[in-house]
Amino acid sequence: MAAEKKAVVTIDGPSGAGKSTISRLLAARLGYTYLDTGAMYRAVGLHVRRAGIDPEDAEALEAALDKLEIELSPAEGDDDVRVRLNGEDVSAAIRTPKMGLEASRISAYPQVRRRLTELQRLMAAQGGLVAEGRDMGTVVFPGAQHKFYLDASPEERARRRCEQLRQRGDEPDYQEILAQIIRRDQDDSQRALAPLRPADDAVIVDSSQMGPEAVVDFMLANIDGFAMLGEN
Ligand code: DC
Repeated sequence: MAAEKKAVVTIDGPSGAGKSTISRLLAARLGYTYLDTGAMYRAVGLHVRRAGIDPEDAEALEAALDKLEIELSPAEGDDDVRVRLNGEDVSAAIRTPKMGLEASRISAYPQVRRRLTELQRLMAAQGGLVAEGRDMGTVVFPGAQHKFYLDASPEERARRRCEQLRQRGDEPDYQEILAQIIRRDQDDSQRALAPLRPADDAVIVDSSQMGPEAVVDFMLANIDGFAMLGEN
């Protein structure tokens, strides 16, 4: 039973598929820690942009990554995780559509991927983790005990993203958000390094027609031994 507690669960998928909500709920149900790796790429994107670093300048990028400190901690209530970049709370600053594109852009650089993969594995050293991202099951935790790939149609994802932004007081343009989602899908799945794709042993879940609770229940039913933990 103790061994089961130490499992790593990976949830990969395109932007807006509901990975954050599902991962947070699943982690809470399992009593695991939630690791939001997109937040880490966003934090690096913000840092690179603010510091005016040209990511093509390998030396400058390497130096910036060496000094970078990223801290993730659980947020209150339904909020996304709290993110600190070199001590500064950047939780709100990284959650804009623009920073999503910026994160996607810098995520194609090998130095960035190497550094963040290293940090993510350190964070998983104790196990008991639900790790969310694009390459969790394929590259970062290929030996994870439970792997899921969460998908939904681009239109449904754009609709959800608009709703989320509206709740934050923004007035999003649906067509613009849809175009960003399609572009990010292309960039994330066509990059040479750690492209977005399901691991061969991942369970694929299409959430287009499913609410978050139904998706989490489906995942729990797929996690061997969860019933033995006596939590459902
Ligand atoms: O999940 P998100 O929208 O916060 O991620 C932002 C970008 O970061 C995403 O478009 C690609 C990149 N990313 C990545 O390359 N690998 C991950 N494991 C997580 C995110």
